[in-house]
Amino acid sequence: MKIIIADDYQELSRRASDLLLEVVKRDPYAVLGLATGTTPLGAYEHMIENHKKNGTSYLHVRTVNLDEYKGLPASHPQSYACFMRHNLFDGLDIDLENTYIENGMAAEEEEECARYDKLLRSLPRDVQLLGLGSNGHIAFNEPGTPFDSGTHVVTLAESTVRDNARLFAGIDEVPRKAFTMGIRQIMQARRVLILASGANKADAVFCMAKGPVTEDVPASVLRLHPDCTLIVDRAAAAKL
Ligand code: GLP
Repeated sequence: MKIIIADDYQELSRRASDLLLEVVKRDPYAVLGLATGTTPLGAYEHMIENHKKNGTSYLHVRTVNLDEYKGLPASHPQSYACFMRHNLFDGLDIDLENTYIENGMAAEEEEECARYDKLLRSLPRDVQLLGLGSNGHIAFNEPGTPFDSGTHVVTLAESTVRDNARLFAGIDEVPRKAFTMGIRQIMQARRVLILASGANKADAVFCMAKGPVTEDVPASVLRLHPDCTLIVDRAAAAKL
């Protein structure tokens, strides 16, 4: 795992977007694995700014997202589908038909997971962007998730529900279940870029980068990936 320590969130965001832009500029038909959460927001802003200033085109780019809350339609303001449109896609020239995410409203869980697994097989990702949960989760793969898992439905850890409540009207509004890409599929991306910012991620960053590689810390699996870059700001790197 290559570790880059940025001075602050601004630098982290710039470095992350530089890396993603490099992929798109090299291959206009690139497949990007994208993430939600507050951490990638700065990088997404840079990508939009770059598109507007320099005309980097996403017309042929395809994207797959990590996860989606179960029970939220794509039109719901707190759905991850809506998050992606609002914070990235609407600012680019990307064709929304080329952007993929699990259907949170799918009635048949297994069918939906199988559909997404098949989709992921047909769209090998050039890069997978990730945030880091304060309990070491990646996507919604909570501690204890087997490293060989495919797309599945998870019951969110209490700490994850609490962490994510800030984006909802109240904790009771946070869905307790979600669809998530599995760890096996995250590891299949050609390149992985994981971002962590802020003091509340310092323990998880330490466990991921320096602790044992264990299913108790899902992000620790990334140390086994041949091309993984971690970009952290100083606050999140405090315990390294
Ligand atoms: C959610 C998402 C993760 C994300 C994590 C951290 O649980 N499913 O993909 O990495 O939150 O979010 P944040 O970046 O807001 O700290």
